[in-house]
Amino acid sequence: MCGIVGYIGKSAAPSILINGLRRLEYRGYDSAGLAIVEDGKIIVAKAPGKVVSLSDRARDTWPTERFSQVSYGIAHTRWATHGPPTEVNAHPHLDQSGDIALVHNGIIENYRSLRARLEAKGHLFLSETDTEVLSHLIGDRYDGNLFQAVCDALHQVEGTFGIAVISVKEPGKIITARRGSPIVLGIGEGETIIASDAAAILTHTQRVIYLDDNDIAIVTADSIEIRDLHNVPVNREVAELDFDSSAAEKGGFAHFMLKEIHEQPESLRNAIRGRLDFNLGSSVLSGMGTSPRDLAEINRVVLVGCGTSLHSGLIGEYAFEDLADTHAEVQQAAEFRYRNPIISRSDLVIAISQSGETADTLAAVREANQKGAFVMGLCNVVGSTIARETGRGIYLHAGPEISVASTKAFTCQVTVLLMMALKMGRSRRFSRQEGMDFARQIEAIPALVEQVILQNDHIAAVAERYAKNEHAFFIGRGPLYPVALEGALKLKEISYIHAEGYHAAELKHGPIALLENGTLVIALANDIPGKDKTLGNVEECKARGARILGIITAGDHEAAEIMDDVIEIPACHPLVATIPTAVALQLLAYHIANIRGCEIDQPRNLAKSVTVE
Ligand code: AGP
Repeated sequence: MCGIVGYIGKSAAPSILINGLRRLEYRGYDSAGLAIVEDGKIIVAKAPGKVVSLSDRARDTWPTERFSQVSYGIAHTRWATHGPPTEVNAHPHLDQSGDIALVHNGIIENYRSLRARLEAKGHLFLSETDTEVLSHLIGDRYDGNLFQAVCDALHQVEGTFGIAVISVKEPGKIITARRGSPIVLGIGEGETIIASDAAAILTHTQRVIYLDDNDIAIVTADSIEIRDLHNVPVNREVAELDFDSSAAEKGGFAHFMLKEIHEQPESLRNAIRGRLDFNLGSSVLSGMGTSPRDLAEINRVVLVGCGTSLHSGLIGEYAFEDLADTHAEVQQAAEFRYRNPIISRSDLVIAISQSGETADTLAAVREANQKGAFVMGLCNVVGSTIARETGRGIYLHAGPEISVASTKAFTCQVTVLLMMALKMGRSRRFSRQEGMDFARQIEAIPALVEQVILQNDHIAAVAERYAKNEHAFFIGRGPLYPVALEGALKLKEISYIHAEGYHAAELKHGPIALLENGTLVIALANDIPGKDKTLGNVEECKARGARILGIITAGDHEAAEIMDDVIEIPACHPLVATIPTAVALQLLAYHIANIRGCEIDQPRNLAKSVTVE
């Protein structure tokens, strides 16, 4: 999705802005631009494509020596929503006078009516974007007070925004505001950084302020004044970023995705640390804000999310039913608010989102709140909108996930869901001994993942045999069925191979018609209940010429004999087996995509955080 960077301070703004955009590249975009104030006028450089093109364009716009003289400006990476990724549509956008520049994340739903009103007043628009309407609206409202003009304009906006605004008429300040699209302020020594994502700030400072919806701030090099849109001062706490700049580098790995796959033993230890009580045989999740009595009164758990987060929710569904004897169901976040869901006060709604900014999942949170449910978030990004709007929940502590394909966030999501189910189970029929036993199983998850990662070279060799396949089927049963879905998503989103995940029993109800000689079938045949049925499904596939890659429990010779290739997973509880199995499939997808020469960390058409519907 789009990225915003603003800088005001003592250093050279253009290079800081461009480097900040580079740290946001992982979010996915298709054009970029920046604006500075110099010699009493606004100078803009914009370019379609990557930030490197913008850097070249900026240097063509300004002679290098002037680059170091400019001390503030704003910049943007755009993921096209209104109008193609062209230079004209790239941000920043100017007002009619050319004295005000704006960058914007989000969508202005009523931009057409606003544009018509402004055109009737003689405004001329250059782009097809909703954002340019907002810059003109601010210019139209400007009457000597930039802050007030931005406030007035935003009161007319329906939709979402994260913005930064500069003006030649009021040099030395940046106005920034948000509603539904994150803005974080970095507090440096004699400098302030504005960004849509802390990754652009962490090389300057670890001290940050997250704006809330309808906050608007006046930012200078050494001051931050925050008000609401009614001009009432508000107080926002200063937070400390919990990761450093090295986390945003690849750490010697070829891709962020491979780095993050290998980080999983550590990220899982971080997710588990301090959250298991072996004496009570339960988990300690204070962020849930619930007593055992509260949990005992929950009648149903509803898990909402998108993509990989939806898949972790599907595993959570099994966990809450198996461990907590509680009805659980997953609902697609994009569907949730439109289906008028039957939600009551005795429902626990868990919103699962790595970024904490996914528009559909945020909308589901708001709908669940409207229905009076008990709502909590399961997020990775501290201070994200979903984390703050739910007001309670559990942070993954997985560290920043840069690669668009989610890996360590997924395994941490599943692990935290297992701990939540354990906690709820102990408020019901799960005994202390059962709880102690399962807590040990959870504690062992990082070591299980380490054993899979040690097979990296073997998995790379297996990938060589299947990298040329153009179709793949993933099949599994029980809690491994969602892992089949996730494995298929990983493969398709980074290698562009057409991959589908199916319940193993489903193939014979139609999809098996697609099998022919050499078709790849990846069978999750771990030694858990239903394995024998899955082996039967494997035989059905082999009878039609398919090549079978079996994910099996280490030492299961019966299963190994019928597979063409195997990846072995350590024996463990069926719910726990989902995690090392998923890691094996992450490595498989990574190596296949790498062999195919794909752009692994930023796959085509994808964004790390989908903050629009
Ligand atoms: C998964 O690899 C993708 N990056 C995508 O499906 C992602 O899981 C989905 O967009 C949800 O994102 P979120 O967890 O940040 O809400």
